[in-house]
Amino acid sequence: MRGKIIAANWKMNLNLEQATNLMKDVRDRVDLEKFKSEVIIFPPSIYLESFEKNLTNSLVSLGAQDLSANIKGAYTGEISAQMLDFLHVEYALIGHSERRLNHKEDHDLLTRKVNQALQNNLKIIFACGETLEEKESRKAEEIVVQQVLKSLNQIQHERWSQITIAYEPVWAIGTGKTATPEDANSMHRVIREALFEKIGHLANDIKILYGGSVKPENAGELFKKPEIDGALVGGASLNYLDFIKIINAAE
Ligand code: PGA
Repeated sequence: MRGKIIAANWKMNLNLEQATNLMKDVRDRVDLEKFKSEVIIFPPSIYLESFEKNLTNSLVSLGAQDLSANIKGAYTGEISAQMLDFLHVEYALIGHSERRLNHKEDHDLLTRKVNQALQNNLKIIFACGETLEEKESRKAEEIVVQQVLKSLNQIQHERWSQITIAYEPVWAIGTGKTATPEDANSMHRVIREALFEKIGHLANDIKILYGGSVKPENAGELFKKPEIDGALVGGASLNYLDFIKIINAAE
């Protein structure tokens, strides 16, 4: 059976003190309760080093919200996969719609990021999802499958265990609107079937998270669905109690 992952994407929020306090609160609770789900925090990258020290013996995993597609060199402002690996960062988030839309990240660039992450032993949460326009023109499934297959097209068989997918409909991110559990489940099934065609039974082990306005009020219903293996949580992960309730809903 696939275990669940509950991941917190803090985006560009919280000052150092707020972030450190929230991380410590989450860490202490997760280590005390020994939840079955894996809990991952994706803080702003500037906090990764100090977080890593605080999470060394913790059950909480640490992830970077982005990484460079390049190995090293004259790329001002970028952070390489190797730098993340040296810091013992475990995960990289790749393909988030805010990067696809605000930074024009396309399939090719994302493929290079995926390759960099895998070569440097990082696990990946690969985000995909359709815009409202794509949904309304009934292209959602085609778009999402393309996003997944195009950027995950050069992965060696043994590397697929490093991949988790997050389906995040763009119209649901930060809007308070969520896909119904039925719709999310059916998109997850479509993704898994596409993966099955590509990599066979390995597809059954790949976790597919849902993201987009996940809150304590809707998490339980989402997690009841067999294809929903957890959540990538933005806004609600900034609130300690809400985030813990979401983890609890997955238990
Ligand atoms: P949200 O963000 O939970 O605030 O909708 C989710 C995400 O962007 O990962």
